[in-house]
Formats: sequence, C-alpha cells, structure tokens
Amino acid sequence: MKICVVGAGYVGLTLSVALASFGHDMICTDKDLKKIEQLKNGDIPFYEPGLLDALHHCGNLSFSSEVKSSMEECPVIFIAVGTPPRSDGSADTKALQSVISDLSEAIRSYKTIITKSTVPPGTNENIAKQLIASGVSENLFNIVSNPEFLREGNALYDMLHPDKTVIGVQEKDHVSAAIVKSIYKHIDTPYVVTSLAGAELIKYASNFFLAAKISFINEMARICEAYHSDISDISRAIGLDPRIGGHFLQAGIGYGGSCFPKDLQALQFAAQEKNTETYLLQAVQHINDTQLGLYIKKIKSFCDTLHGKKAAVLGISFKPHTDDIRNSQAVRMMERLTELGCHVHAYDPAAVLPEHLRQHVTQQSQAFDAIAESDFLFLATEWPEFLALDWKKAASIMKGRLVIDGRNVLKKELLEDCGLICTGVGRP
Ligand code: UDX
Repeated sequence: MKICVVGAGYVGLTLSVALASFGHDMICTDKDLKKIEQLKNGDIPFYEPGLLDALHHCGNLSFSSEVKSSMEECPVIFIAVGTPPRSDGSADTKALQSVISDLSEAIRSYKTIITKSTVPPGTNENIAKQLIASGVSENLFNIVSNPEFLREGNALYDMLHPDKTVIGVQEKDHVSAAIVKSIYKHIDTPYVVTSLAGAELIKYASNFFLAAKISFINEMARICEAYHSDISDISRAIGLDPRIGGHFLQAGIGYGGSCFPKDLQALQFAAQEKNTETYLLQAVQHINDTQLGLYIKKIKSFCDTLHGKKAAVLGISFKPHTDDIRNSQAVRMMERLTELGCHVHAYDPAAVLPEHLRQHVTQQSQAFDAIAESDFLFLATEWPEFLALDWKKAASIMKGRLVIDGRNVLKKELLEDCGLICTGVGRP
C-alpha cells in the first residue's frame, strides 16, 4: 500500500521504518528541510537504538519535504506531528492545523487519514469538520484515531510488538478499521475498536495510569523514609499481585520526558474545559513536581552549605537509552543545584545539556572527569554504564563521600565497601 507519514519525529520515523519493513511503499514527510536532508543522507535526527540500522535496511522508504504533493499521491495518510504543551497546559495543535490546511488542498481522491499524534479528545472529530468546512467532500475521506504507545529507547520494538492496537473511527465509518488492520497485518495484536474520542482518551488514560503508578510509589517511598523501611521490598511485594503488576514501581526522582508531563496537563485541561473536577490527576503531578525537593533536603542534611560545592551529576536525559532531555528531572536537578551555588559537572553517554544550563554546568565527556574532586555525586539517570561504574575508582577521586542515588538502582553495600555513603529514597 502507498502510505504517506506526516512528521519525521520519533513516532513518524519509527512508523515509517516499521511499515516499510512490512513491504508498504512509504513516503515520510516533514516541513523541516534540514531533517529531511539528514534523513535522505541516511542519518536520523535523534538517538534511538536500532532505528538507524533498520532505516539503512529499508528499500521502500523515501523522504520528502513536499508534504502536500506526497499526501496527494497516497490513499493512506498518517499524521504524526508533535503536540507540545502551551503555557496553560493545553496541547498546542499548531502543527496539526498546518497538516489540516495542506490536507484540505491535497484530497482529490479517497483518503484514509490516520492520526497517530496524541491529541485532546474531540480533536479528530474537529479535523473532519474542518475539512468539510474547507470544501472537502465527506465522501472523500475518513478520519481514524490510532494512538501509539511506544517508549523512547524501545521505539521500533514497541512499534512492531504492541500489546494492543487501538482504532478509533467515526460513527458511520464501517471501512477504516479493516484498512488499518490490513496495514498492520504482519503484527499479531489484539485490536480495540472504539469511537474517535474513545481512542484519544485511551492514550491519555494509559499515560495517566503509568504516571500515577510512579507518583504512588514515590509517595510510598516518602512514607517508607519516615518508618525506615525499604521501598524496593514494597514494590516487589505488591508487584507480585497480578492486579497491581510489577512495572512502573521504581521510586526515584520522578517521571519526565516528552509524554507524561505534557499529556497529564493536557488531560487536566481537557477535563476542566468540560467542568470536570480532577483530583488524582493533580495529585500525581504535585507529587512529581515536589519529588526533587526531597533529594535537595537530603543533600542539605549531609552538607552544611551547598554554596561552592562541586557536584557530579551522572545522567542528563530523562531516562536511559535516549538523548531526549525534554522535561528531564536530571536537568531540573541541575537547575536546583546551580541555583543553590553548586558547581555542577555533568556527564551523559548520549544527551547534551540544554542551552540555558551550558553557562552554569560543565558537561564532561567521561564520567570520571565529572566525578573527579566532587563533593558529592548525584545519579540522575540509570544508564547501564553508571550501574557498572568502578566505584572504588570513583571513591578514590571524589573529595566527598556522598552518593545520592536518584533512581534507587545502586548496590548500597558495594558503595559502602568502597568507603562511600549511598542514599536513595525510601531506603534505610
Ligand atoms: C511513555 C509511555 O511509556 C509510552 O507508552 C508513551 O507512548 C509515551 O510515554 P516514554 O516517555 O518513552 O514513554 O518513557 P517511559 O519509559 O514510560 O518513562 C517515563 C518516565 O518515567 C521516565 O522519566 C522514567 O525514568 C520514569 N519512570 C518510569 C520512573 O520514574 N519509575 C518507573 O518505575 C518507570
């Protein structure tokens, strides 16, 4: 099938590579000329394990910055543009509006338009209305909502092995679900076919629930601290109950990334627009927003003043196996530490410091360069190489003894054997 994907970000590019591997004839488009040039030259604009390799093996995938003409050529169009947050928390659908405007001129033959972007409930119905209002015949298209659930760092695997495929269709649409299923025919997955708003909300509900699990365990970790108990025992024990499940119960500095913070805010905004009170949504975000404060308090309890102290921060990205720093708690921690007068030296295997921190934080190209002479070390992102760090060496080059484990992943006894003091959250 000839398929056009609009948006060459994590979702659009991964989708294009996955569908090309199924034999579809793919055009991946983006208005960002630089990005398209880079892709045409066989490179990808972000770090995502396995994707570059897979891209090099794709025979039937082309790239174009000519979005409108590419859409004209294809009977199936996937929309995978970003929906970043506005300052009021609502989703910014500017990029989506530009796609709709292009679509209104590109639809001359029947199109199945499939939205992959995470969009507030009601958006896909509005796309249909907007297209009709701009003169497109309602017989020439159907709109489908087909959200993605991929994790950065595992994007291609998740795209090829989803635990479900959600298809939201318009009320009288009896053809699109079959079209979507035929596109994905190589994937063995349960299908959930629902309304457009149902599909839009499934995506938000999924991220809300996962974020809630993290905030739940982080709040439990605070209570564990008060009772000198180990949160990891609690995570393990409750996780063995299949009704709870063991995933997303890792206590630490909290969640970040391009999805959870943005989607929870957008869901709250969408609820408020319909005068629906949200209690849990707000609590989940509040716990996450206040989690770093716990660590600052902890560091302060070990150091009389933070002013002039050298802090080694390991990890810049919001989680391992990505160079993405959007809403990274590691970055927020560095902001807090520099505000308190620390000289921060950071290291990350893939991510680069954001512009606004470059004046205040030194990014080192080796972990030990960041660690040397540090008064304390903060582990912010659990990259495997930090877990396997030579802690004896670290102890021998650090000035201070304190290691703060922001992800509760280090072996405390091992560090203590090296003469270090290791503290996490909710760990005695
Ligand atoms: C998430 C969803 O998992 C994915 O389904 C959706 O499509 C997009 O948003 P992603 O943002 O890539 O994916 O990251 P994820 O692996 O879910 O982690 C999100 C954040 O939660 C990270 O900052 C991570 O460090 C944190 N986290 C995760 C915890 O603090 N504790 C946990 O137990 C799990």
